[in-house]
Order: sequence, then C-alpha cells, then structure tokens
Amino acid sequence: MTAVGIDAVEIWTGNLKLDLPGTFAPEKDEDPEKYTKGLGLNASSFPDSYEDIVTMGANAAHRLMERKGLEPDDIGRIDVATESAFDNSKPVSTYVAGCLEQVFEGDFHHANKGERKFACIAGTQSLDDAYNWIRAGRNRGRSALVIATDTALYARGDAGEATQGAGAVAMLISEDPDFVTLSTEQGYGSADETDFLKPNQQFPSVDGKRSVQVYLARMREALQDYEQVAGDVHPDDLSFIPFHTPFPGMVRKAGLLGYRHITRDTSFEDDLADEIGRQPRSEAFDTDEEFHDALREYMDALKDTDAYQEWYAETIDPTLTLSREVGNWYTGSVHIARISALKHALEAGRDMTGEQLLVGSYGSGAQAEIHSEIVQDGWEAEIESLNIDSQLEDRYDLSWADYEEVHDVHNHDMDVDVEEFTAPDSEFVFDGWGRMGERK
Ligand code: CAA
Repeated sequence: MTAVGIDAVEIWTGNLKLDLPGTFAPEKDEDPEKYTKGLGLNASSFPDSYEDIVTMGANAAHRLMERKGLEPDDIGRIDVATESAFDNSKPVSTYVAGCLEQVFEGDFHHANKGERKFACIAGTQSLDDAYNWIRAGRNRGRSALVIATDTALYARGDAGEATQGAGAVAMLISEDPDFVTLSTEQGYGSADETDFLKPNQQFPSVDGKRSVQVYLARMREALQDYEQVAGDVHPDDLSFIPFHTPFPGMVRKAGLLGYRHITRDTSFEDDLADEIGRQPRSEAFDTDEEFHDALREYMDALKDTDAYQEWYAETIDPTLTLSREVGNWYTGSVHIARISALKHALEAGRDMTGEQLLVGSYGSGAQAEIHSEIVQDGWEAEIESLNIDSQLEDRYDLSWADYEEVHDVHNHDMDVDVEEFTAPDSEFVFDGWGRMGERK
C-alpha cells in the first residue's frame, strides 16, 4: 500500500506583532505573567492592513511551490481550510489559485478546489480529504495543496483577545512523502456543541471556559476511539504529541489528560475504590463538587511528579515554541505545533527519521481527531528550508494605538486607504474587494 502524507510545508505569519506582556497586559491592567505563564503566550502575530487569509495563504503556497520547483500542472487539488472566510459561495482556494496563476506558468483549470469548514479541525480534515483522494487513485500522479489560513481575531474586551493570531500553513500532500506519512487509523470524538460560534459575524461568540472543557472531553473520546483501531498507545513509542494549540496553557491541560490516559494511571480510581469499599462514588462524596475537587487535587499531584514533568518537557513542550510567539492560528495551529517539535529536534541535533508523532486536532462545535505520523528522511531539509525565525523577527511591533487601528480595519469594515505599518516585500497584498492578491 503506497504511503501518503505531507511532502513539504511552508509557514507565513502576519507581518505585525502584539507584545502581550509589554503592550497588552499594561492596557488591560493585568499581571504580565497571566499571559506568559498562565496562557503561555509572549506575542500574537497580527495581519497588516494589506494582509488577509488569501494573501497569507497564497504567500505560503507560493513559497512552497517555488522551493519545490512545482508548476500548476503538478497540483491536482487545492483545499483551503479556514474559519475566517469572507465569501459564502466562492471558495478561498479559487482566490488563492488566482494569485498563484499570476506568478507561475500555466493555470489550475484542471484542479479540484474547495474550502473546508469545521473550526480549527478543518486543516486536518483537508489533509484527510487529500489523503483519501490520493489513496483512491484519483490524483493522476498529481499532489494536493492544502492551505490552513486564518485571521484569528476576537472582539476587543473578549477574554479570547489575548489569544489572537494570524498566519497560514501550506502543505503539499503526495505519495511517498519526504516529511511525514499519515496513519490510516484515526480516532474521533464529536458532539453538537455551542462553545464557539461565528454565525454571520466577523468576531466569534465564545464561552471560553466551557470551550476548554469541551476540548478536553472530545480529545479524551478521540484518544479512546483511536486506541480501538490502533491498539493501546504507549508513551515510549511517541516522540512528540502536537495538539491543537489555541494557547499553550490549553495544551498543558491536554498533555496531562493524555499522559494519564496513555500511562493507564488508575491510582485515583483505585484509591477511591478502596476508600469507599467499592460503593457508588456518590457515597464517598456529599456533592459532585467535592468529587471534582478531589479529582483536581489528584491531577495537580500527578502534574508535580518527576515522571510527568520529564515526559511533558520532552514530548509536549517542544510543540509549543512557535505558538508562544504567534498565538492562535486556528486551522493552522496543530500544523505549526508539528513544525515546532521538529524544529526543536533539528536544533537539538536529533535524528527523527522513523520516529512516531501522535497528532491531536480539535475544532470547536466540536470535534477532536487523533492520528499518528511517521517522520520521513526528508524532514531535516524541510525544516531547514523554513525562514520562520526571520519572519518572526521582521514583524512590526504594534503600539496599543496601532493595534486598535489595525484591529478596526480587520473588522471587515475595511477602509483600504488605512495606514500600512510594514512595506510588502515581494508578496501578495489585499488591494480592495475584488482586486485581491496583486503581488507587490
Ligand atoms: N500568573 C500566572 N498565571 C496566571 C496569572 C498570573 N498572574 N493570572 C492568571 N493565571 C492563569 C490562570 O490560573 C489560568 O490558568 P489555569 O487555567 O491553568 O488555571 C490562566 O492563567 C488563564 O487565566 P484565566 O482563566 O483567568 O483567563 P481568562 O478567563 O481571561 O481567559 C480563556 C481564558 C477563557 C480560555 C480565554 O483565553 C478565551 O476565551 N480564549 C478563547 C477560547 C479558547 O481558546 N478556548 C480553547 C478551547 S476551544 C479551541 O481550542 C478552539 C479555538 O481555537 C478557539
């Protein structure tokens, strides 16, 4: 059976940066450590006034195609995953293809284009679609281009405002890939939830606290479901676990849940069973609240063990490095977590070929998905070719007044003559509705 997976990757960050401890915290009159330690974030990437989901997606895809020496004829499918779409009919992939056709020989008339929506998990669903299309033998030797692109902005004053971000990840999906292969086995946890919605509105309505609980509940189900088909997961078999990362603090919780599950730690249940002599749980605690307090106490104790701390530092923490600097990229977020981990391995001089990753994707509304990946021998060259460090370095550091101005611009009330904080440097720019994607 031919292996299918990710052959190449590229990242494009929004060109602006909002410093959370330095600029955001003082304005909100909050302790900077709420952001750096609590949420785990140093900064958010932000789109300049000439950037949007099309320009960032097209810029990432352009860089990927140019680097890999690809022409439109090599690509049989373009899927864009986003939860920041502006057109309810024409998919964002057609706008992206229009941009790319300005700079490459030939066109994408032959390509199947679409747009995937299920909040942040749509990026992984687009990978699945591409994987299935190739495995079904419908690709005629061509690869698929999957682009996860979002401007993850919240209304000013919303609790989510600290977790904003903007950027795109482009991925080439092919047979015999150079980067990672994807497992056939997948696990799902899916339920109708209303924790995060954007019904005909630019900024989401979010029940932030509940969204954290829904994420954890669906992720637990997905892990259990994955083990039904793939067998029990063992911590020693996994090099990294990239999770969907709305903010690193969320992944701290997911990591603890995952650790307890895959180490089969039943000490809490066993102690409880001893204590209550195998009677119903309700008889050991007067209220549900007491039970939850006891469970939280046990999880806190587990978190403090050396074994957990070591596992977390090796398996989870390296997936969060980029996220700390860019915030939430919604559909792209789990894909930058994978890149973060492999970048960490490269910098540590570690050989990752043949190593296994467990990837946990999540989308509000809500669905989690777990699959595994095997790192291929071209991984080093892929990670080495990324210029994400210089992209991050080059971002313009917004003052609070700049931030308020550019935030208004992105409220889809666009005045195209607003100030640009950076100068486009050989990239696609938003040039007014209907004139999107001109390259400057
Ligand atoms: N020093 C250290 N830590 C501090 C601190 C300080 N001075 N002050 C607060 N903290 C800690 C808190 O204890 C908390 O940590 P724990 O959760 O581990 O207890 C953390 O910092 C955050 O503090 P709060 O809970 O008080 O923060 P908040 O209520 O202002 O906002 C949030 C948190 C509700 C999750 C908000 O960020 C939000 O609404 N985010 C958007 C929704 C979201 O991302 N949900 C995640 C799941 S849904 C999803 O994943 C899809 C998606 O992409 C949106």
